[in-house]
Amino acid sequence: MKIGLDLTNLKGCVGEKDFQALLPRMTKTHEDLHSGSGKGAEFTGWLNLPSQTDKAFLAELRTLGEKVRKTSDCIISIGIGGSYIGIRAALDFLSREQKLPVYYAGHNLSAGYLQDLFAKLKNKRVAVLVISKSGTTTEPALAFRLVKQFMESKYSAAQLKQRIICITDEKKGALRAIANEQGYRTYPIADNIGGRFSVLAPVGLVPLAIAGIDVSSLVKGAQDAERELAQPGFATNLAWQYAASRYLLYQQKKSIEIMSFFYEEMDFIAEWWKQLFGESEGKEGQGIFPASANFTADLHSMGQLIQEGERNLFETFVVVKDTGHKLLVPKDKVNQDNFNCVAGKNLDWVNEQAYKATAMAHFEGGVPNMTITLPKFDAYTLGQLFYFYQKAVALTGYLMGVNPFNQPGVEAYKSKMFALLGRK
Ligand code: PA5
Repeated sequence: MKIGLDLTNLKGCVGEKDFQALLPRMTKTHEDLHSGSGKGAEFTGWLNLPSQTDKAFLAELRTLGEKVRKTSDCIISIGIGGSYIGIRAALDFLSREQKLPVYYAGHNLSAGYLQDLFAKLKNKRVAVLVISKSGTTTEPALAFRLVKQFMESKYSAAQLKQRIICITDEKKGALRAIANEQGYRTYPIADNIGGRFSVLAPVGLVPLAIAGIDVSSLVKGAQDAERELAQPGFATNLAWQYAASRYLLYQQKKSIEIMSFFYEEMDFIAEWWKQLFGESEGKEGQGIFPASANFTADLHSMGQLIQEGERNLFETFVVVKDTGHKLLVPKDKVNQDNFNCVAGKNLDWVNEQAYKATAMAHFEGGVPNMTITLPKFDAYTLGQLFYFYQKAVALTGYLMGVNPFNQPGVEAYKSKMFALLGRK
């Protein structure tokens, strides 16, 4: 793996002996996942997806992307949850590669948000992606009605066929029916891949390719991770190490995990991770609560609680070795703020010292922590990271004894809302 995992600051909580004691269960968990004998096995299509993604499909997406970018100034990507967060996470992480602006819709029910969006895009050439596995989710369904109305005010029915792409179930759902009836181009979402595990499926690959991201590198990163993480064993399998560490910390009543990061590019990686882990583990009265902290800003708000509050936390830092950014701190003649000590240094070097100081201080304050190290902000690294997290959460879910691939609790609010809306 090009990504790294440092467990030094778990000292006193999780060590080699604990891993060895967990080895038989971890081995069984790994086998259950790979043999398809574990819970929810019918939703493990993501497991071998990267290696099954063929070059011809990636080439088709490249061509589609070039075509859409020639005829459009931006995309509206409609979707929520697993049909939204991963796309946004990838585009924020890879913002320097992005070639076409992407606006989001269907991830809320805010009238003001959509009104502002339509006003902003009034004179732009717009393409639309509608993403919904079930094709029946309220937020994207209503957003699509409104976006369609907006598009119809700009384009003919024939033009709309060139401008609207739907990503949905191959056969079922209202979106499939609409797409078939209107003749929109479609990409299928496989039955055996759940929403939060779908970023490396057409759900993620189609919008990312259209936005100009190198999806071949993204998939290559995931393929390499798939191959390496298929090998059992604590010594080399980072998903094993991360999954087992989390599980062992949870056994010690560390029931909240904070993903802490130091870059604006990672805000939505944390959101994606929160959905993946929260929805996969949070059932049957179990689950580590996934929280996130955007440092250094949150050191000035959440820092106090993390340092000295209830000791029910552990933390996973995600740091990037070579950010690729260079912004040197200027020397000041007067040096009133006394910061000439860092004059000539890259601001990201200062950021790195903030990470080191924070990891040390939190460890000493009783917050065990790990660090995931990413080489760069590039598509290959991101493909590895996405797959690593998917693999790890499947393993901890199984260790906890839950089905990590369903989300029965999400239905509770939906049925109550449908009753309030009078929807059958
Ligand atoms: O992980 C999930 O399954 C959910 O977050 C879904 O992705 C979300 O509810 C959207 O569902 P759909 O793609 O069916 O519209």
